[in-house]
Amino acid sequence: MTEPTAQHPLASSAQGQQAPSVEIRRLSYPDLPQVIAIERRVFPTPWSLAMFVLELSKQSGICLAAVWDGRLVGYLICSRYDTVWHVMNVAVDTAFQRRGLASALLADLYERVDDEHARFTLEVRRSNGVAIHLYEREGFRAAGTRRRYYQDNGEDALVMWRTPATLAGSLGDVPNPGPV
Ligand SMILES: CC(C)(COP(=O)(O)OP(=O)(O)OC[C@H]1O[C@@H](n2cnc3c(N)ncnc32)[C@H](O)[C@@H]1OP(=O)(O)O)[C@@H](O)C(=O)NCCC(=O)NCCS
Repeated sequence: MTEPTAQHPLASSAQGQQAPSVEIRRLSYPDLPQVIAIERRVFPTPWSLAMFVLELSKQSGICLAAVWDGRLVGYLICSRYDTVWHVMNVAVDTAFQRRGLASALLADLYERVDDEHARFTLEVRRSNGVAIHLYEREGFRAAGTRRRYYQDNGEDALVMWRTPATLAGSLGDVPNPGPV
C-alpha cells in the first residue's frame, strides 16, 4: 500500500518567490539513523535508538517525518494513551529551523487524528522558550508543572495541553490543571 503523504506550503523567505513545500509522511525504521543524528544535534539528552524503536512499534501512535528536498530534516513522535494524544518528541535539524517545519508536522498530526474532540498534551523544559512559543501559537496552554522532571539538570517541565477548551480560551476540559 502506498503511504499517503501531504504537501504543506511554507512561508516564502523572499517576496515573489514560490513558497517551498515540505513532504510530511510516516516515519519508518530505515529513517532512524537520520533521526538519531538530528536528535544528537538538537537535544542535550538525546533519546536512544531503543526509545525510537519502541515508539515506532506502537500501533496506535503517530510518528511523522518532515522531508525537505528528499532529505529527512525533522520528526514528530506522538503516542496515544486512552483518549489523550501525548506529543513525546518534536525536532527540526538546526539548519532547517524557523521555516515552519515543526508547524507543518503538528498540522499533519491534527489532520491524521481527525477528531475535533481530540486532546493533546506534552512536557517541555521551562527554559525552552522557542518550543513554548511554538506550542502556544498552536493553541497549547500551560496547565501544570512537573517538578525536576529532567534528570540531566533537575529542570522542571511545563505541562501543556491543546484541547477544544484551550482552543476556545479556557482549561475547562484539561484533567487536573495545576500551578504553572
Ligand atoms: C522547537 C522546534 C521544533 C521548532 O521547529 P521549527 O521548525 O523551527 O518551528 P517553526 O518554524 O514551525 O516555528 C513555528 C513557531 O515557533 C516559534 N519559533 C520557532 N523558532 C523560533 C525562534 N528561534 N525564536 C522564537 N520563536 C521561534 C515561533 O512562534 C514560530 O512562528 P513564527 O516563525 O511565525 O514566529 C525547533 O526549534 C527544534 O527542533 N528545537 C530543538 C528541539 C526542541 O527543543 N524540541 C521541542 C522539545 S519539547
